[in-house]
Amino acid sequence: MIYSRIVGTGSYLPDRVVTNADLEKLVDTSDEWIVSRTGIRERHYAADHQDASDLALEACKRALHAAHVRPDEIDMIVVATSTPDMVFPSTACILQDKLGIKHSIAFDLQAVCSGFVFALSTVDQFVRSGNVQCALVVGTEVFSRILNWQDRSTCVLFGDGAGAVVVRASNVPGVLTTHMHTDGSYRNVLCTPGTVEGGKVRGSPMLVMEGGAVYKFAVKAFEEVAWEALNANGLQPDAIDWFICHQANQRIIMHAAKKLNLPDEKVVMTVDRHGNTSAASIPLALDATVRAGKIKAGDNVLLAALGGGFAWGAALIKW
Ligand code: UT7
Repeated sequence: MIYSRIVGTGSYLPDRVVTNADLEKLVDTSDEWIVSRTGIRERHYAADHQDASDLALEACKRALHAAHVRPDEIDMIVVATSTPDMVFPSTACILQDKLGIKHSIAFDLQAVCSGFVFALSTVDQFVRSGNVQCALVVGTEVFSRILNWQDRSTCVLFGDGAGAVVVRASNVPGVLTTHMHTDGSYRNVLCTPGTVEGGKVRGSPMLVMEGGAVYKFAVKAFEEVAWEALNANGLQPDAIDWFICHQANQRIIMHAAKKLNLPDEKVVMTVDRHGNTSAASIPLALDATVRAGKIKAGDNVLLAALGGGFAWGAALIKW
C-alpha cells in the first residue's frame, strides 16, 4: 500500500507588518474590536514587487530544505491560491520556473480558504495511485491586493503569506484520509466577483463577505467534517493531538474545538500573528507548530478548512 507522507514544511510572511493600531489610522476601527471579535493582532502585506509566486518560492525553499529534498526530485506542484500572479499561466507554472524545476506537473487549484486541504487531497490521490513520488503542496495569497478599504468589516481581517509542504510516497501511513465538500449555492456570501474583459475589470475586484453567515456555517461545518474524518478512521476526538483549523477567527476555532471537547493546548492558533491568509493559513499554522518542535512522530494532526464557495474539508494525518 502506498501512502503520502509530509516530510518537510515551510512558510513565509512578507516583511511589512501591519498592526491593528496601524489600521486604526486608515479605517474606523479599533484594536479592541478586532482582537475581541477575531483574535487578530497583526498581519503582513507583500511588497509591491512581490506576487503570490514570490511568497510561495520562499515557503517552498524552506520546506525543501527541511525535507532534505532537491528541487529536481519534485514531480508535482499544486498551488492553492485565489490571488494568482496573473490570469494565466498558473502561479504553479511561474513557481516551477522560479524553483528551476523542469519536469514536474504544475497547476493551480482554486478552493479559496480550503485550497490547501483540497490540494493536499489531490496530491494524495496521485501519490496513492503510484503516479507521483514527491510533490510540493502550496498555499499562497496576497489578499491585501483585493481588500476594499471602504469596508471595515472585511479589510481588517486579511493578510498575505505562504506555506508549503513536501509530500513523499511511503509505505508508512501519513495522510490517512481527506474529505472535501462544496456547496456553490453560497457563492455570493464570500466572493471577489470581478474578472477581466476587453482590457478592463468587469464587476468588482474587491472581496465581499457576509461575515455572520460565514461564521454560522463555519462552526457547523468544522464540527461535521472533523467527525467525518474521525469516523472514517474509527477514532474519537481524544485521539487528535493537534487541531489545525483555517485561521480566520479565534472565536470560530475555539467554538469548533469546544464542540469536539478538545483542550486548548491541542488547538493551534496563529491567526493573531497573520490574520486570515486564506489558502496559506493552514500550512502557515502547520509549519509554525512543526518548527516549534511540538508535533511528534505518531501524532494525529487534524486539518479543517472552510471558505468561499462554500468549499470545506478536512485531512487527518499521522505524523
Ligand atoms: O476565510 C473564510 C472564512 N471566513 C470566516 O470564517 C469569517 C467569518 N466571520 C467572522 O469572522 C465574523 O463574522 C466577523 C469577524 C467578520 C465579524 O464579527 P461579528 O461578531 O459577526 O460582527 P458583526 O458583523 O455582527 O458586526 C458587529 C458590529 C457592527 O456594528 P453594529 O451594527 O452592531 O453597530 C459592525 O458595524 O461591529 C461593527 N464592525 C466594526 N467595528 C469596528 C464591523 N467591522 C468593524 C471594525 N471595527 N473593523
